[in-house]
Amino acid sequence: MVKVIVTGAAGHMGRIVKDLVEQSSDMEVAACISPSAADGALAHPEDFTGDADIVIDFSNHEGTEELMNYCTAHGVPAVVATTGQTEAEKACIAKAAESIPVFFSANMSVGVAFLTKIAKLAAQVFPDADVEIVEAHHNRKLDAPSGTALMLADAVKEVKTDAEYRCGRSGHCKREKNEIGISSIRMGNVVGEHEVFFNTGSQTITLKHSAHDRALFAEGALDAARFLLKQGPGLYGMDDLMGQE
Ligand SMILES: NC(=O)c1ccc[n+]([C@@H]2O[C@H](COP(=O)([O-])OP(=O)(O)OC[C@H]3O[C@@H](n4cnc5c(N)ncnc54)[C@H](O)[C@@H]3O)[C@@H](O)[C@H]2O)c1
Repeated sequence: MVKVIVTGAAGHMGRIVKDLVEQSSDMEVAACISPSAADGALAHPEDFTGDADIVIDFSNHEGTEELMNYCTAHGVPAVVATTGQTEAEKACIAKAAESIPVFFSANMSVGVAFLTKIAKLAAQVFPDADVEIVEAHHNRKLDAPSGTALMLADAVKEVKTDAEYRCGRSGHCKREKNEIGISSIRMGNVVGEHEVFFNTGSQTITLKHSAHDRALFAEGALDAARFLLKQGPGLYGMDDLMGQE
């Protein structure tokens, strides 16, 4: 059985991951990590002294450095699904990936990976279009714009290399041609909506993904864990999981 450490175990995603691992036939929970240390969880990864095969992390970016230090020191691969990392925290993830396998994606759904690919394709086909991204999430989400919105913007920027991100729009200032506008909405219990608009002046192409159930991301994280256990050190993402360039 694959022994899994679940970080952010008391959170919305962590609880779903824990349940899915417990229900699976090939995995078991080795430890739960949660700063509150409630329900038998440990406060820090280093508090766990047993054996583990992998970490699945849906927590908070402030724990990323500590988690990467634990994983590197103990040779434990990590699926990092947490979003909102600073550049320094992203550098910690990249550094860890030099010695252990790390899977890092702001969105664990294959549908969003597909959306990202076609957003890049649309940017190639419509190089002069105004690009706007609108994302909606539940009212508890901490980071804005969402990691997925930034991932979509990054895919467009691979084509429109001079693009600049404009997160939120207000005041008296017209749109610049090289902008990628990113707008965030927070309300109720919305699981995750992402729309990318390409407006050429005479037409609009709209690409949209709606997540209906958070289990989608947890299932993707377990698939990523199974994939990662077969890999050597390196940084992996959804493209690798889908077996494409
Ligand atoms: N990659 C994806 O597909 C995907 C999907 C959904 C959510 N997320 C991300 O996963 C994260 C968690 O989302 P959620 O909806 O479960 O949030 P949540 O607020 O419900 O849960 C977060 C949990 O992390 C814990 N935590 C806080 N600081 C911590 C630290 N320093 N170390 C360890 N744990 C800490 C909290 O106690 C809480 O239990 C967010 O960053 C969110 O954006 C990613």
